[in-house]
Amino acid sequence: MDQPPVNVSTLRRMKGDKEPIACITAYDASFALLVDRAGSDLVLVGDSLGMVVQGHDTTVPVTVDHMIYHSRLVARGLSRAFLVVDMPFMSYTSPDQALDNAVRLMQEGGAMMVKLEGGAGQVAIVEHLTRHDIPVCAHLGLKPQSVHKLGGFKVQGREAEQARKMADDALALQNAGADIVLLECVPNEVGQSVTESLHVPVIGIGAGPGVDGQILVLYDLLGITQGRMPRFVRNFMVDADSVPEAISLYVNAVKDRSYPASEHCFS
Ligand code: KIV
Repeated sequence: MDQPPVNVSTLRRMKGDKEPIACITAYDASFALLVDRAGSDLVLVGDSLGMVVQGHDTTVPVTVDHMIYHSRLVARGLSRAFLVVDMPFMSYTSPDQALDNAVRLMQEGGAMMVKLEGGAGQVAIVEHLTRHDIPVCAHLGLKPQSVHKLGGFKVQGREAEQARKMADDALALQNAGADIVLLECVPNEVGQSVTESLHVPVIGIGAGPGVDGQILVLYDLLGITQGRMPRFVRNFMVDADSVPEAISLYVNAVKDRSYPASEHCFS
């Protein structure tokens, strides 16, 4: 029997029940269908599409129009998974600009939630979106849109002070109304302590096993992405005979907590 569509309450219930949340990125309808059929609970149209689809070195060149285009494609392939769409670089510099762009992502792109990068500095934006009933995912840790400021794609929160600030930011964003927190590239201990301190689900990518769910970039888990892979990536094609099988292996590995293993973690 068809399973009911996932929504924010489903994700909160899963956190409460300690049921791992499996998430994958997708950028078109065919892959969205496969990811949905494999049982991914959440699908993200990530601005990583700037790198893995468009061939840029960073996500900075991605625009709201690009996100809407890909989100429309993905929305057509989904029947159960919850659709989250990234707000690209400089599309949320003020509360009003963020609201205008979030509305476009929802109305034109079919997004059910928008994701934005940033810490306590984004509290006013998250409050404004929340006041208008727009679900928000707050992305902390390694923020790829800030790569030129960070000086590269590096693990974040290794120092105690930085880790404490990240935890404070996560709490502030939850209190501002964020429905999900996403943590990228942080030590296991930071992933676990932020997860324990929040009542909203925490999804990790390179954040260790102690978070409520895992996400990977689809092309990374299929071994398509060229160049040096981050430590947290596992190529699931190595153990699969087909793309659908590799995606199912990933979902199952998240569900039975065999991914991430210690070799995919930072401590
Ligand atoms: O853009 C993206 O795909 C993301 C993931 C890395 C979480 O933000």
